[in-house]
Amino acid sequence: MCGIVGILGEKPVANELVDALRRLEYRGYDSAGVATVENGHLDRRRAEGKLRNLAERLSRQPLKGRAGIGHTRWATHGAPNEQNAHPHMTDKVSVVHNGIIENFREIKETLAREGVTFSSETDTEVVAHLITAEMRRGADPVTATGKALGQLKGAFALAIIFAGYDDLMIGAREGSPLAVGHGEGEMYLGSDAIALAPFTDRITYLEEGDWVILHRGGAEFRDRNGRKVERKSITSSASGFLVDKGNHKHFMLKEIHEQPEVISHTLTNYIDLVAGKVAFPDLGIDLAQVPRVTISACGTAYLAGLVAKYWLERYARVPVEIDVASEMRYREAPMPAGGVALFISQSGETADTLATLRYCKAQGQRILSVVNVRTSTIARESHAVLPTLAGPEIGVASTKAFTCQLATLACFALAIGRAKGTITPEKERELIQALTEVPRHMVGLLREEQPYEDLAHWLSKARDVLYLGRGTAFPIAMEGALKLKEISYIHAEGYAAGEMKHGPIALIDENVPVVVVAPDDDLFEKTVSNMQEVAARGGQIVLVSDASSEKVGCRVATHLSVPSVHPFVTPLVYALPMQLIAYHTATFMGTDVDQPRNLAKSVTVE
Ligand code: F6R
Repeated sequence: MCGIVGILGEKPVANELVDALRRLEYRGYDSAGVATVENGHLDRRRAEGKLRNLAERLSRQPLKGRAGIGHTRWATHGAPNEQNAHPHMTDKVSVVHNGIIENFREIKETLAREGVTFSSETDTEVVAHLITAEMRRGADPVTATGKALGQLKGAFALAIIFAGYDDLMIGAREGSPLAVGHGEGEMYLGSDAIALAPFTDRITYLEEGDWVILHRGGAEFRDRNGRKVERKSITSSASGFLVDKGNHKHFMLKEIHEQPEVISHTLTNYIDLVAGKVAFPDLGIDLAQVPRVTISACGTAYLAGLVAKYWLERYARVPVEIDVASEMRYREAPMPAGGVALFISQSGETADTLATLRYCKAQGQRILSVVNVRTSTIARESHAVLPTLAGPEIGVASTKAFTCQLATLACFALAIGRAKGTITPEKERELIQALTEVPRHMVGLLREEQPYEDLAHWLSKARDVLYLGRGTAFPIAMEGALKLKEISYIHAEGYAAGEMKHGPIALIDENVPVVVVAPDDDLFEKTVSNMQEVAARGGQIVLVSDASSEKVGCRVATHLSVPSVHPFVTPLVYALPMQLIAYHTATFMGTDVDQPRNLAKSVTVE
């Protein structure tokens, strides 16, 4: 995961930048670099591999500037070489970046037509050239940056310095975190407070869409419309990352808001953004020959597997068998020769999942795992590991790990589909494009939480809540119900919308809220029919959908509006309203959101 630091210091800052980058090493990286402004000129040092390589280069060829930025780059697409390492620069600006610039291809083409040449394969370099182009047209650095930011689509954090400006640094945040550190006559930027811990404990977290203009004397914050805004500073807990909730009241909320960033990281691990196709690691199996995929997991991770079943069947045309691990481990299920068994686990330690893994291994299956903790037992006992790059998840209720599992599994389905020839290169590009747009849509969705807070007043009084969905919205409905019951203790169930009339509809009356997860896709009309059956019986509907009210055509108590996205990626985006409904209901009720009663983060017993 990329890490960003920036310092406007009193003395040369290169060594301090490297020290700060060391504190971001936990995020993982494979190249690093720093740039400073020295005598009005920008200069940089970059190195492949560990930070000691960068430190060695700096000791041979020091940088003496007092204004500087640094970066650790985590291999995304393209080689992790010096050429692709950050900072990227022109004669006028130097930039470090974390996240995805979704529209970098379009920007690159436009700039190339204007005669700009590029020296890396990265999306980041377009930011440096965009700002430079504005400056060549006469804009000052702040105006040029404001204009350039307005053209970027995606989820990102940026730190920028300028030739000729020794007392200026600009930071920007859209979906990836960025913290400003306030020192005595010095100012700092960092991906998180831990990077800045030795310098200062006075921190201001940028809000979504914010950018900040730093001088040694202070910081000026602007919102996405360029308006000056006030942002409060806080005293960060000295012990750093693991206990730091940032600006958030709970770890769960922090982790919900981290999703645009961690999804970007996870996607870039499995996607070649430049070519617009999946770039999957060699799993040691011929994906074209996989006869069946057996999936097993527990709880939320199982529901991620259920979404994957829809994707694998539809896009890769591969049969899928799936069961919760506590059942599959004892079923003595027969396994096909050459089959693949896939295990999904945040912790990588869940006892039932591990036992099922061992059973499948004994049955001669090729074992793959999607895990968040790479050193875990499940990872170690797998033939190949597909890591989710969610970072540590502290809240007991899984949020960002779930959506990262989905992102990984979506790429896995495309990798098999491509190998089997069930998706064309054009289709692959379309689906990859849809995936890369997810972080931006998540940012948009997370901007407006008031409707969820309002809904919480009503939901908190319910004794039971039903969740309905069809297709991939069905597992998402089940995930919504699971989230609500585990943190608010309200009884909730997720059903396939079409199953209602076979029993659960008897539960409906005006006291039972029914959350209907209904993306405007090819199953929408069917879900609406089921919703009308509920409404006709006095059911109170909470509609979670991108469809217009006219299209819905029946009375709903609340409509939680979701950005319109490609049907392939709806599970990733619709997971967020499920999390927010549960979170705001639970906080309104005053339950222990991060550590709900009776639950453990890692279930290492049967
Ligand atoms: C629910 C939740 C649990 C876990 C389950 C599996 O919010 O977090 O249902 O998903 O206990 O845990 P892992 O993914 O660690 O195997």
